[in-house]
Amino acid sequence: MQIIINIDDGCGAAVRFTANGIKSLADLCDAHGAPVDFSCRAASCSTCRVRVLSGAELIDNANPLELELLAALGNPHDIRFCCTATLRSNATGELNLHALGPAF
Ligand code: FES
Repeated sequence: MQIIINIDDGCGAAVRFTANGIKSLADLCDAHGAPVDFSCRAASCSTCRVRVLSGAELIDNANPLELELLAALGNPHDIRFCCTATLRSNATGELNLHALGPAF
């Protein structure tokens, strides 16, 4: 798995790093000081909401908890939650995310 991840917050904070086999976006954000805030870490508060600008195919399908939160937001096609989203195994590419913060 060789996935390069870029995350910005639109306010000047941005990080770029390589996943190096780690699948959890939360673990990667924590390890690299990504400008993504977390609160519940259980797909209920929406604090870790990000817009996927490109590379959505590199992220596993949403789990039931994330699907429930996405449904509460009207199932936006380009939104994921870093606390539950994981990278696909053996995927290669570049993932570009824009941190949005809580939706409510
Ligand atoms: S931290 Fe609450 S939804 Fe991700």
